[in-house]
Formats: sequence, C-alpha cells, structure tokens
Amino acid sequence: MGHDCAPGSFQASQALQALITSLGDERRVFEHWEWRRPEDLAEHVLTATDGRAGVCAAPVEPGAEVAWVRWAALQDGMPLRVLLELLATRIDGLRRAHVRALWCVDMKGGWLNHALRERGFRRVDEIVTFEHRDGFVCPAVPAGCALMDVDGAHLDALAVLDVRAFAPQWHYPAFVLRAARVDLGWFRIAWVDGAPAGYLCASLQDEHAHVVRLAVDPAHGRRGIGGALLGEALVELAARGMRRITLNTAASLPAGGLYRKLGFRPLRDGADVLNLTL
Ligand SMILES: CC(C)(COP(=O)(O)OP(=O)(O)OC[C@H]1O[C@@H](n2cnc3c(N)ncnc32)[C@H](O)[C@@H]1OP(=O)(O)O)[C@@H](O)C(=O)NCCC(=O)NCCS
Repeated sequence: MGHDCAPGSFQASQALQALITSLGDERRVFEHWEWRRPEDLAEHVLTATDGRAGVCAAPVEPGAEVAWVRWAALQDGMPLRVLLELLATRIDGLRRAHVRALWCVDMKGGWLNHALRERGFRRVDEIVTFEHRDGFVCPAVPAGCALMDVDGAHLDALAVLDVRAFAPQWHYPAFVLRAARVDLGWFRIAWVDGAPAGYLCASLQDEHAHVVRLAVDPAHGRRGIGGALLGEALVELAARGMRRITLNTAASLPAGGLYRKLGFRPLRDGADVLNLTL
C-alpha cells in the first residue's frame, strides 16, 4: 500500500507520522532526509500491509533515472525479510518508472547498510565529514568574480550548473534549490561574466553551520572560486557565532584537497555510499 498524497502536503505528512507512530518505540529507523523535510518525499513511502515496516525510495526529481533510499523503518523483532520484500516492491515500481539506479548512504555497520548489501547493493564510495573549528582563512575572491546573495531568479541557472558539476545521483534540481533558498540560513552565488559560476549554501543551527552544498561550474574550475565561496562562508558564519563548521564529500571527489587547504580536518567515522543497478 503506498500513500497517494501530493509531496509536501499536510496529508503526506500525516500519513508518514501515522506510520512512524504505528511502529511503536521499539523500532529500527534509517533516515536520510539531509536538511529537507520528510513530508516533501512522503508520497514515496511504501508500507507493509500489517504496518510493521515502511520504506521511502524517491527519484532525484520526477522522471529522473536515479533514486535514493531516504527512509526505512522496521518494527523491532520483525525479520529483515519483511523490509526487503517491501523494498523489492518499491524497486519494481521504480523500474516501471524507468529508474536505472538506486542509491543509499548509511553509516558503516548500520542495520540498513547490512540489509541492502544482502539485497545486492554494492559499496561504491565513502562519505567523509570534514570539520573546521577555528583559524579561519579567507582566500581572495578571484578577479572578475563577485559573491552575492542568491535570488529566486537565479535558481534555474544554478540547477543547470549543478548538472555539470555533479553526477546525476547528487544532483540538486531547481525545486530542491528553491527549498534551500527558503530553509537554509546561508546561500551565496559566485557571479562571473553575467552568469552564476558557482554556489554555496549552508544550514545554521545553534553554533553549528553545515555546508550542504558547494558547486563550481567545471568551466570555471580551479581558479579560486570554490575557495572564495568557502572562505567567505567560514569568516562570515564565524562572525555570526558559528563555532563549528562541517561539510561532507564523497571520498572519490577531489574536493577534499581544497577543504584541507582551508583548515578542515576529516572526522573519523565515514558512511558508505551504496548502489544497486536496477
Ligand atoms: C570542489 C569544487 C567546489 C572546487 O571548486 P574550484 O573553484 O575548482 O576550487 P578552487 O579553485 O578554489 O580550489 C581548487 C582546489 O580544489 C582541489 N580540486 C578541485 N578540483 C580538482 C581536481 N579536478 N583535481 C584535483 N584537485 C582538485 C584542489 O585542491 C585544488 O587546488 P589546486 O588547483 O591548487 O590544485 C569544484 O571542483 C566542484 O564543484 N566540484 C564538483 C562538485 C563537488 O565535488 N563539490 C564539493 C563536494 S560535495
């Protein structure tokens, strides 16, 4: 049984909440909403008919060929088989929607990580979290580049830039960027020759800022734009009282070199990036 509700709707939110409540306190829950609201994806939640398990696997955007496992829950004491059968049903639906690959990020040793590998998912990468606590440096903004606040009119262009910067599974479509503009406390664009060349957005909570996104158009790469966006964020967010700044990156990407140069240090416990070809 799937919930037939519009994403982000009150009904979708209620349906997800009802499922979580029905699972009781003794449950195993996997969540990967990032900074987004669970109800935005709740229409993709599939629940076991007896209400003992649920899974949410949603395409990156409608019509996308890649999807993510965002949420899974299993009542304590229930065999993993119940969840895997549910996932198999969801995978059939994704295949019918022409989705070609399903992705998941889970901590090493996580219960879902284990279950997905049994189901045939492969570990293809690792997510490393970097942390910065003090000694912020601010590289100069390169000549011809200006940093400015995002404007709603820029978001479609940023979504196009994002396609060039990231592999499809990491893509932020325009609707996600719109949510980021509303929900996140920091969203800046690097502007070159009358067009966006890169952007950075960060969530702010208490004294902790998390850079949820840094992207530079490859056509403008390695000219200091990424460093300028990040350096500005470090200095300005520290000035706003952020004592700890973190960000994540896939170990396979070269971004770690930039982060180390700006004084970030990797934290020890990474997470696995899992992939299943459908
Ligand atoms: C990572 C990224 C933001 C860097 O932006 P940028 O404008 O090229 O960064 P800068 O010019 O300020 O700094 C470049 C440094 O980043 C690292 N780097 C960036 N691209 C690299 C590449 N292709 N190969 C090796 N190192 C690279 C190096 O440390 C480099 O320093 P160097 O040029 O002196 O060797 C950009 O390459 C990008 O958007 N990549 C794709 C998306 C991504 O990985 N985002 C961040 C992780 S989620």
